[in-house]
Amino acid sequence: MTQAITDEAACPLCDGTGWILVEESGVEMARRCECAEARLRERSVTRAGIPDRYRHCTLDDFELWNPEDPTLGKSLRVVQEFVDLYPNVDKGLVLMGPVGTGKTHLAVAALQQILREKRPPVHGRFADFTSLVLEIQMTFDGSGSSREILRPLVECDVLVLDELGAGKTTPWVMDLLYYLVNTRYLENRLTIFTTNYSDFPKKTGEESLTDRVSQRIRSRLWEMCRRIELRGRDYRAERLAAREGGLNR
Ligand SMILES: Nc1ncnc2c1ncn2[C@@H]1O[C@H](COP(=O)(O)OP(=O)(O)O)[C@@H](O)[C@H]1O
Ligand SMILES: [Mg+2]
Ligand SMILES: [Zn+2]
Repeated sequence: MTQAITDEAACPLCDGTGWILVEESGVEMARRCECAEARLRERSVTRAGIPDRYRHCTLDDFELWNPEDPTLGKSLRVVQEFVDLYPNVDKGLVLMGPVGTGKTHLAVAALQQILREKRPPVHGRFADFTSLVLEIQMTFDGSGSSREILRPLVECDVLVLDELGAGKTTPWVMDLLYYLVNTRYLENRLTIFTTNYSDFPKKTGEESLTDRVSQRIRSRLWEMCRRIELRGRDYRAERLAAREGGLNR
């Protein structure tokens, strides 16, 4: 439906002009057609920087595929509640858990639903931690543009920061990331983090989230977010493999 309505030529209400005539107390006035708003919303989704491979993600298609894993249903409930209550929520989310458990799926689904459904329109951004760190590092020549890179991420209403703690960072980059996280905290802006790191690594020698992002970022995180833990297994490895196996039979 969204598809048809965003196609200008197809809009039966306004003939593709984006405007409709309405009568108010006997006076004819021009008003924005709903298709124009739908187009603006789709544009805001496109501009959020969500990677193509996650564009399909919705909360409705998040499967509770493993009956032995209660964290699937619980995580979905908390994320759904966040979306339903938005903008009346005072904390963001941090989704923790091993690779492939659906953290990015849930984060992107929440962001897209908020961008599509909430009024007034919301400015949202998706940033992948590793790429962000690389981008910041490329500004190290002192051109001072690292703040420019961070500006849209600092200023947007909802930010998804994916894979917090991944890749290699330096103390200088950590300072800038702290600036990002802390400014959003101080200005009461909502952030959804995902991370593969936890506070209590299961294997000895494995780094904790604090090791990866420093104590001050980690403690800010707990102040500004509700924490969601996915403990289950890798959806890609198990569910998708099982499905392909089924197809081959
Ligand atoms: N419960 C689920 N229901 C439907 N798709 C899922 C589920 N969990 C993961 N996926 C899919 O599996 C892939 C890996 O999930 P992803 O969100 O990237 O995991 P993570 O970010 O935790 O590493 C994605 O394509 C995602 O859409
Ligand atoms: Mg991920
Ligand atoms: Zn229209």
